[in-house]
Amino acid sequence: MTERSGSTPDIRIAPLTPANRALVAALRLAPDQMDFVAGNAASLREARSDHDARPRAIMAGDRVVGFLMYEAPSDDDEARIYRFMIDRASQGKGYGKAALREVLREIGGLGHIRHVSICYEPENEAARQLYRAAGFVEEGLDEDGEMIADLALPASMGDQ
Ligand SMILES: CC(C)(COP(=O)(O)OP(=O)(O)OC[C@H]1O[C@@H](n2cnc3c(N)ncnc32)[C@H](O)[C@@H]1OP(=O)(O)O)[C@@H](O)C(=O)NCCC(=O)NCCS
Repeated sequence: MTERSGSTPDIRIAPLTPANRALVAALRLAPDQMDFVAGNAASLREARSDHDARPRAIMAGDRVVGFLMYEAPSDDDEARIYRFMIDRASQGKGYGKAALREVLREIGGLGHIRHVSICYEPENEAARQLYRAAGFVEEGLDEDGEMIADLALPASMGDQ
């Protein structure tokens, strides 16, 4: 891990705009991480035709450093985070942890969500550690061999 500072990084999540779309599409992973998540350009195309998709740019100050996407259908109490990445040049600085906190706060604020699920390749140790530290509990492999983990939101979260 590099450049870790003791302070919480200034991380927020922002909706996609014409201005940040190309910057999100240009984010890159290390070669050995490319199988862990779909490319951002493909995810953004997918989001255009999926009205439930909520794509978000991860911002460190005014820099785009990552991307995530989730869905939280209004007729369900479960949200699903299905894309999550930090650009390779910005990994290991606490941005992923801070962005996860931000998206969980946003999801909690929707008011109707009680559970959040996430899935990752079983060999993705960074993802496992990140999600476990946030309280996600592994539930087992799905039919595609991906690990599913679930987080029960505190009841008070929707009131924040
Ligand atoms: C997983 C990912 C989002 C983490 O983002 P990040 O900004 O590098 O993570 P952070 O610096 O906030 O670290 C948060 C925690 O993740 C874990 N972690 C991060 N990198 C790790 C690594 N290389 N090995 C093991 N654990 C790691 C640690 O538990 C860390 O907490 P700690 O430093 O207090 O121990 C990032 O590595 C990434 O984009 N990976 C490729 C895409 C991917 O796998 N996405 C998830 C698919 S669901």
